[in-house]
Amino acid sequence: MTSATPGGVRGSSMADPRHLVSIDDLSLAEIRALFEHARAFAADPRAFAHLCPGLISASLFYEPSTRTRLSFESAMLRLGGGVLTAADMKSTSASKGESLADTVRVVGGAYADVIVLRHASEGAARLAAQYSPIPVVNAGDGSHEHPTQTLCDLYNLWEERGRIDGIHVVLAGDLRYSRTIHSFVYALARFGANIVCTPQPGFELPAYVMQRLREEFGVEPVRADTSRLGELAEACDAMYLTPQKPHQLSLFTDASKGLAVERVDALYMTRPQTERFTDKDLPIAKYQQLGPRQMKAASLKDAVVMHPLPRRDEIQPELDADPRSIYFKQAARGVPIRMAILAFLLGRIDLKTPARTGEERFYTQRMGENPCTNPTCISRTETRHVKPLFRLASRFPVRAYCGFCSQELQAPVVGSANSGLFFERESVEARKIRPEHLVLCHSEAHALAQGFRRGAVESRAR
Ligand code: CP
Repeated sequence: MTSATPGGVRGSSMADPRHLVSIDDLSLAEIRALFEHARAFAADPRAFAHLCPGLISASLFYEPSTRTRLSFESAMLRLGGGVLTAADMKSTSASKGESLADTVRVVGGAYADVIVLRHASEGAARLAAQYSPIPVVNAGDGSHEHPTQTLCDLYNLWEERGRIDGIHVVLAGDLRYSRTIHSFVYALARFGANIVCTPQPGFELPAYVMQRLREEFGVEPVRADTSRLGELAEACDAMYLTPQKPHQLSLFTDASKGLAVERVDALYMTRPQTERFTDKDLPIAKYQQLGPRQMKAASLKDAVVMHPLPRRDEIQPELDADPRSIYFKQAARGVPIRMAILAFLLGRIDLKTPARTGEERFYTQRMGENPCTNPTCISRTETRHVKPLFRLASRFPVRAYCGFCSQELQAPVVGSANSGLFFERESVEARKIRPEHLVLCHSEAHALAQGFRRGAVESRAR
């Protein structure tokens, strides 16, 4: 994939470093190649200290972590490298008001060779990648994405089930705020897995995630018949997300009743992400819980139970001894997969496989106000060094996602930074504006306030 952003997601040398901001940054072939390396690392973790001697990873964690930070640091040490840790950013100059952009320029300047970043704002890793001269790994950005957890989860599925395409994965709990889930569903969709969503009521997948799944990843949402899933799915509106391939749908017998969840390969539970809740999300109704009773459901007979951890009460400790429970093994596999990620981004292993090509392009809005209204997007929480960034979903009519947080931008009117004219997004004239010149506006009044003049319109899109 090419990128129009400075510090975009593709690069082949340290002068143009490769970042891991989104799970979409990797091709499926690359992900499979990372699994092969992870398997070798897992077989003999002490045998690869020759791969990264003299190299340093910097952990910049603006939010708490146990697994992600420590498994990355363990991975770097096992590869023979060193680590710098800012586990509590309150003890750094971030507390004096230093921006994320300045911090990564300093750390990436001479202190380290790769940055592992966790941040509370969606899009923080994208912003960091724009400014960092060294690879940036997204270790979780707000409720947006957590691509290395997803690589760990996919690696677990690959080891446990032998494949990912065509398997049936049930996602339970807080699907709305869980960044882990968002990266996971994008990847599962691309691999051609069948996803069954059984969310905690009120915590369904966000609209922007559903939209991306449909538009970019070819997923078809269908009502799910979860009668064989027992009480786990009783209270929620379960939904099947299936790849748009007839042979997948033919696995099910009676589509009129909703596709039946007959046999589940993996059940993935998540905790309530209370740190992201707004007042409207509280009090939370009785949260879904997994225990020996729920796991008696017919369709879960052979399902592995996964959880990114930390857990609260959503998985009862009584389930820990069940051979289907793999969540601690899942966390342990975080080390070899992160060894593979680091060795790859640092150019110490060659995946010998093509990168993603020909997809999305990011564009920096040259002028005008930030069109993103998500209050937890980095484009709103960082006041300096952030230029509005967008990704085009469609040219006709013009539709775009925020390049940082991925949420759809509400822009019924678009201006041209070249001509100074604005048009409604459905007009042919709007389509003629080169993406590099597009300025996304909330309304006509907004366009006028930014100094645009109304352009003459010939016709509208149908
Ligand atoms: N799964 C996960 O991201 O755990 P931590 O928050 O402990 O890093």
